[in-house]
Amino acid sequence: MNILNIIEKKRDKEELSKEEIEYFIKGYTNGEIADYQAAALVMAIYLNGMTKQETTNLTIAMANSGEKLDLSILNEIIVDKHSTGGVGDKVSLILLPLVASLGIPVAKMSGRGLGFTGGTVDKLESIPGYNTGIDINNFVKNVEKIGISMISQTLNLAPADKKIYSLRDSISCVESIPLIASSIMSKKIASGAQKIVLDVTCGSGAFMKSKESAEELAKEMIEIGELANRETVCILTNMDEPLGYAVGNSLEVIEAIDFLKGNMPEDLKEVVLELGAYMIKLAGKGENISENKIKMIENIKNGKGYEKFLQLIENQGGDISYIKDVNKFPKAKYVEKLYSIKSGYIKNMDAKRIGEIVCELGAGRVRKEDGIDNSVGIILNKKVSDNIKEGEELVTIYANSEEKLVKAKKDLLNVIHVTEEKISKQKMILEIVE
Ligand code: URA
Repeated sequence: MNILNIIEKKRDKEELSKEEIEYFIKGYTNGEIADYQAAALVMAIYLNGMTKQETTNLTIAMANSGEKLDLSILNEIIVDKHSTGGVGDKVSLILLPLVASLGIPVAKMSGRGLGFTGGTVDKLESIPGYNTGIDINNFVKNVEKIGISMISQTLNLAPADKKIYSLRDSISCVESIPLIASSIMSKKIASGAQKIVLDVTCGSGAFMKSKESAEELAKEMIEIGELANRETVCILTNMDEPLGYAVGNSLEVIEAIDFLKGNMPEDLKEVVLELGAYMIKLAGKGENISENKIKMIENIKNGKGYEKFLQLIENQGGDISYIKDVNKFPKAKYVEKLYSIKSGYIKNMDAKRIGEIVCELGAGRVRKEDGIDNSVGIILNKKVSDNIKEGEELVTIYANSEEKLVKAKKDLLNVIHVTEEKISKQKMILEIVE
């Protein structure tokens, strides 16, 4: 077997065998297959797709590419959560401490930003001292001690996904159902979760632009979950505009803290509560979805969710003085407001372009080795359907370079559209696929 034949087969739209997929994953993980060869194969998969059998084989091969975590020593059902990615998506930062505050253990491995979307690990690392790279023993110990740990995929879990994930990011091959399904499910299988709640985002700020493609991705992941004996529920959520108001790493952390203190933007609240209610249900701690949402709201009101967040940050080395006083987060050099040039209602915003604009400000990576700037980003002042007057504040931009600020101002005016007609509010929860 050799990699050239495998690339050729996929290029010519033929189906790869289990052995060929395993050969590729093994060879790429141990460095025998070069980045440029892997890039060619990944691009061929992106263009020509995979059969269900190929996607399943790819998932299992990636899950088996490194260690696998056994969380059974925790003696509890571990429910994991993962999102297919979005703009302004700070759900994990809020939802996971909130669920943990209800006594449901959370052992979460998150990713970095991918394409135009942000990543939870980058957001957590904007908190000074927070260590996302702790080893497996300490990860499990943290869950035993305080009921929650959130780390990056630095452990030797699904290392093939780690390599392919950043390769895809650098060659514009992210938006592919087999590649996303195998990436997410391989990590979830390797990280030992018994049950999985997936936030399958859909819209201009997601990798799946239509509800049909989001449904297809959801069904594929549920099938893989069934084969791997992991009960999986997918919640299809709207990502046609950024979630909440903030986009950018420390700005999103600040919004998450605010949420946990009770200041909850409506769209973000709907998504957090729906995903959380299903996590509680799958954990066997509450059959009734509406009652589960009430329990979460109670833990926002009584401060237990916020307390759990503080405990999580402190336990992983983070400086909680930043959480207690968010003014301590480093400020961008330029903070400028952008005003609407006409009156009316916000018709729509291109969330993908907003994600790209924030990446260009420095919040995301253009190349995989790039560093990121945690203080830059934007805060929206209005959401889709909101009324706005000419001259009223539309968005605040946080930048560290004058040149980038000027460009962001110009670009943002082109991606947020105002109309004279009244617009109805967007529905956030589009479908539950079980
Ligand atoms: N999240 C992942 O973990 N992988 C993807 O491919 C997309 C989103």
